[in-house]
Amino acid sequence: MRTVHVKASRSYDVLIGSGLLPTIGSHAAAMGKVKKVCIVSETNVWPLYGEATKNSLLDAGLEVVEFIFPAGEASKNGETYLSLLNFLAENRLTRTDLIVALGGGVVGDLAGFAAATYLRGIPFIQVPTTLLAAVDSSVGGKTAIDLPAGKNLAGAFYQPSLVLCDINTLDTLPEHIFRDGCAEVIKYGILYDPALFAHLLERGLEFDREAVVTRCVELKRDVVAEDEFDTGARMRLNLGHTVGHGIEAQSHFEISHGSAVAMGTAIVTRAGAAYGICGADTRDAVLEVLEKFGLPLHCSYSAEALYRSALSDKKRSGGTVNLIIPERVGFCRIAPTPVEKIQSFIEAGL
Ligand code: NAD
Ligand code: GLY
Repeated sequence: MRTVHVKASRSYDVLIGSGLLPTIGSHAAAMGKVKKVCIVSETNVWPLYGEATKNSLLDAGLEVVEFIFPAGEASKNGETYLSLLNFLAENRLTRTDLIVALGGGVVGDLAGFAAATYLRGIPFIQVPTTLLAAVDSSVGGKTAIDLPAGKNLAGAFYQPSLVLCDINTLDTLPEHIFRDGCAEVIKYGILYDPALFAHLLERGLEFDREAVVTRCVELKRDVVAEDEFDTGARMRLNLGHTVGHGIEAQSHFEISHGSAVAMGTAIVTRAGAAYGICGADTRDAVLEVLEKFGLPLHCSYSAEALYRSALSDKKRSGGTVNLIIPERVGFCRIAPTPVEKIQSFIEAGL
């Protein structure tokens, strides 16, 4: 097992290893005052890992209730959130009780937002079961639900008390969902770590899961320590996402998040090379690693359509959008770009 300690407004450990799920009960009990635990999960994950999680908590002498909602992004909404708050209140969880978020980013974001707001905040443990959740959403304290006007529009920065990442849970992921998470893993290599990038380029989908998840979490730990509230350096984690969100929206969410991020990364990298921000060697290496993971490099939408979507990006600040552009593998520039220049930049990368 590997441990990464995250320093933030609430500091906590991220435990990463094989077969950790049955230890959840002892970790919860060790938190001291916890008597009752609400496991929050969804209909795909609960049948796979619900029983092991619940039994471990019961064996540790804790009382357990569970809130299971239909799997998928469509559930990450106000209705599910309010049902969860009501469920917590009906079951009389107190401020010293605990929420366990068992699932991917959808469960983690929703349960985390409920934990942040129920009784003005109760402790929660993230148990990520997707690659994306393991390397990104379970660490760093961003919690949110979607509103009809857009994704993640209501939320809070609220750090978990512990992240327990059992690498074995990734074994049951459908291949396309695992591959989607790989786009986020590759992101860390391009942003911060040439050695991680080289490992991914060499091994492709057969990368060392425990070592790579740990490295990504260490890199995220450093970003969160520097900029917990996302006003500066943390923006780099948006690599490929501004254009990627445009691609997702244009496809009416038919194109998955990971594929859209891969296309977005390819577009900003090609544009970066065309504008002389990175060299052809960097461009070719980024395209090669994405291709090695079977991720798409091109989309069929026009620069104009993607530009219109980029304008509604929530990372927009006044008349500029912060584009994240690779300079070389291991370093990306935050480029505040006037909105009128976005379309031609995207055009150069299509
Ligand atoms: P998800 O939670 O919907 O999981 C993807 C799919 O995998 C679902 O169908 C789920 O049921 C299934 N699944 C999960 N674990 C499984 C397992 N072990 N075996 C088999 N199937 C399993 O989606 P995701 O990709 O994990 O997360 C996406 C969400 O994360 C989005 O809502 C996004 O906004 C959010 N997000 C948040 C942050 C953050 O910092 N908070 C960062 C990135 C993304
Ligand atoms: N996933 C982006 C962030 O945590 O900032």
